[in-house]
Amino acid sequence: MTNEEQINQLNTGLSGKAPANILSEVLKIFGDKIGFSSSLGAEDQVITEMLAGIDKTVNIFTLDTGRMFPETYEVLHRTTNRFGLNIRVMFPDALRVEEMVNSKGINLFYESVENRKLCCHIRKIEPLQRALKGLEAWITGLRRQQSVTRHEMKLVEWDQTNGLIKINPLVEWTDELVWNYIRERNIPYNKLHEQGFPSIGCQPCTRAISASEDIRAGRWWWELPENKECGLHSH
Ligand code: ADX
Ligand code: SF4
Repeated sequence: MTNEEQINQLNTGLSGKAPANILSEVLKIFGDKIGFSSSLGAEDQVITEMLAGIDKTVNIFTLDTGRMFPETYEVLHRTTNRFGLNIRVMFPDALRVEEMVNSKGINLFYESVENRKLCCHIRKIEPLQRALKGLEAWITGLRRQQSVTRHEMKLVEWDQTNGLIKINPLVEWTDELVWNYIRERNIPYNKLHEQGFPSIGCQPCTRAISASEDIRAGRWWWELPENKECGLHSH
């Protein structure tokens, strides 16, 4: 079966199912060849809770860029305690970070899109590639509603950049569904979500937004909307 045929088959078989059922089925299909990449944001907390109900040994990892908010580390701690599971923390290569920072400055990302992409590459993309090595599929918390760059997303996609299948079980969920689910189950969440941060990345590259702004307006806010992807997800 070609990749395209497998994706079509998965989309047909899984579309319309509840996210917890989708997760349960893909864990069965891919076994230990699937992993969940969690940023510890609201959507990802929903998925972690669902996974914990299916299999606590599932491969969950998070990318610690070294520039996260203290609140993000706090939610990591509370989540592993609450669900009794392990979230593997991936770090960037220390030598590459040293070289970048010492040649371009600690806050190089504000100076150009090129610098920003370099920093994202070293601090996020390369660790992600290591985490995905040997896997056939990865799960993300991406939703269509999050951004103009995500409106066309499907439940199951071929991730051309990384050469594996990407599964987005909450692709169709609204903000309201995510927050109702979190509140009903008292799931730990990042306190910054209550302070005007719907989307949380690295501390120097994320600001709070006002009610009238787009959900991702606070990410790399100094750049144009079409540049606002760090390369973890290309469309
Ligand atoms: S980003 O591309 O702008 O950084 P976003 O914050 O919207 O992504 O998160 C989308 C999905 O990417 C998350 O649901 C998660 O699966 C993955 N992701 C983003 N940041 C991280 C991170 N630091 N660690 C692990 N996964 C992440
Ligand atoms: Fe670097 Fe900012 Fe990208 Fe984080 S979001 S990796 S600090 S450029």
